[in-house]
Amino acid sequence: MSISSSQPWLALAQLAKAHKNDHMRDWFNNEPRRAEQFTQSACGINIDFSKNTITHDIFEQLLALADTANVTQARTDMFAGKPINYTENRAVLHTALRNFGDEPINVNGENILPAVQATRAKIKAFTESLHNGTHTGYTGKTITDVVSIGIGGSFLGPKIMTEALLPYHENKLNIHFVANVDGCHIQDVLAKRDPETTLVLMSSKSFGTQETKQNTLTAKAWFLGTGAPLDAIATHFAAISSNVPAAVEFGMNPELVFPMDDWVGGRYSLWSAIGMPIALAIGYDHFEALLKGAYAMDQHFQSAPAEQNLPIILGMLGVWYRNFQDAQSHVLLPYYHYLRGFPAYVQQLDMESNGKRNVTDGSAVDYATGPVIFGSEGTNGQHSFHQLIHQGDTIIPADFIMPLSVPNQDNTHHAMLASNCFGQTQALMQGKTFAECRAELPDSLNESEKDTLAAHKVMPGNKPSNTITFAQLDPFTLGALVALYEHKVFVQGVVWGVNSFDQWGVELGKVLGNQVLDAIHTGDMHASMDSSTQALINQFRESLQ
Ligand code: F6P
Repeated sequence: MSISSSQPWLALAQLAKAHKNDHMRDWFNNEPRRAEQFTQSACGINIDFSKNTITHDIFEQLLALADTANVTQARTDMFAGKPINYTENRAVLHTALRNFGDEPINVNGENILPAVQATRAKIKAFTESLHNGTHTGYTGKTITDVVSIGIGGSFLGPKIMTEALLPYHENKLNIHFVANVDGCHIQDVLAKRDPETTLVLMSSKSFGTQETKQNTLTAKAWFLGTGAPLDAIATHFAAISSNVPAAVEFGMNPELVFPMDDWVGGRYSLWSAIGMPIALAIGYDHFEALLKGAYAMDQHFQSAPAEQNLPIILGMLGVWYRNFQDAQSHVLLPYYHYLRGFPAYVQQLDMESNGKRNVTDGSAVDYATGPVIFGSEGTNGQHSFHQLIHQGDTIIPADFIMPLSVPNQDNTHHAMLASNCFGQTQALMQGKTFAECRAELPDSLNESEKDTLAAHKVMPGNKPSNTITFAQLDPFTLGALVALYEHKVFVQGVVWGVNSFDQWGVELGKVLGNQVLDAIHTGDMHASMDSSTQALINQFRESLQ
């Protein structure tokens, strides 16, 4: 039976109709304790979700829907290492990477925690050897720069978390991230590096991703082209991969190949050795604090009752908007410059996980699934796309995310930032009525002009948002925040019945891209190529002559 025929789903559809013309402004006026009743916190993260178009009945039914969808059982299965990624027959155990408990976690009858701990020890030792200068370049010079090459989950997590934790950087190494196969980037980065003091870190779970392989080959050619001997590759190149033999074949020193397992999905991999650049930037102890924050959120997710459970609350609010309010997208608005990359991080996490349309037996869903995720740092967005969120003819639920204090600053800027953040949530919720807008217009306008201008100025309000705050963005809190979103996406995937852990949708483009590359080099078109694609290839080939 489809989840859309379940009792709570039908009840929610009825409630959506019944409250169609309600306005949150009235709810706030009539319920003095609304903010308090719709606020929860855990692991240092506070979520005020009172500015959502939900009543207590709606909230109850959303939790009932999570229950009907068996979120609890799915959660138990994930943490226990059952092969819930059933299209790839894999367990989903990124949570094991940040598990600091003693209970064994078995995959194929073997406890994986000792290997997890061994990899952590290897990350620690390598980080320290670079920080204290015992791992030197081939001429004996200290390594000063790390070029980190990877894409997707092997890039976004390390880069964005490294950026977010800038106040915690140990400033022992300069880390440069390269993802795109666009040669401009790798050339720019390498042009400014000294090969004798540079380490290249290749991050690729598969070791087969075109962009990462090519960028690493380009870095290798650059390195050898500067006169470095071939055997120096062993000290200047390291890799993180589940395909260790391929990395060794590339010329890497097996000691500098950090393993990862197939039960870690790419977009969930920052907790594995893929997170090495973060450790190199902030030091191993801070990296461990990041893992511990995520572990704390894992424990909260597993044990808190649904009505207090932050990932379940965020997940089910998303379901409310996507399935009962026709929202197409969801915006993330970090009011903290260092967290500016977070929308792009959650974009991959959410859209690659729940951008699916088939349930377990392969049949297609009869309801909406993953939304479009976008966003940028506040206040910049206020002077750009917030216009559409305020007055556009669509609902865009928003998450405002802000630390209450920031390091190394007096309060001048931060108070302004906070006032903008909170003011936006108020404006979105309250709006401004026609009468309020009209009353402010100058008497120099005639009645008809007033009516017209007031209509343009009306802010409908009733636009939903969560306000997510924490004392400050330290490594522990960031770990908890990322895990919060991971589990939110998980909850939604369970309700929608999709497999949140595969990504078949990205495969066809890779195959066709390779066929196009062959055609660009040889001029031989593949039989499947349409006239448009052929014309584009010919145009490109002509430009090369
Ligand atoms: O193309 C999608 C994807 O597989 C992502 O899921 C992954 O994070 C990224 O490519 C990089 O993959 P890899 O780590 O194997 O190079």
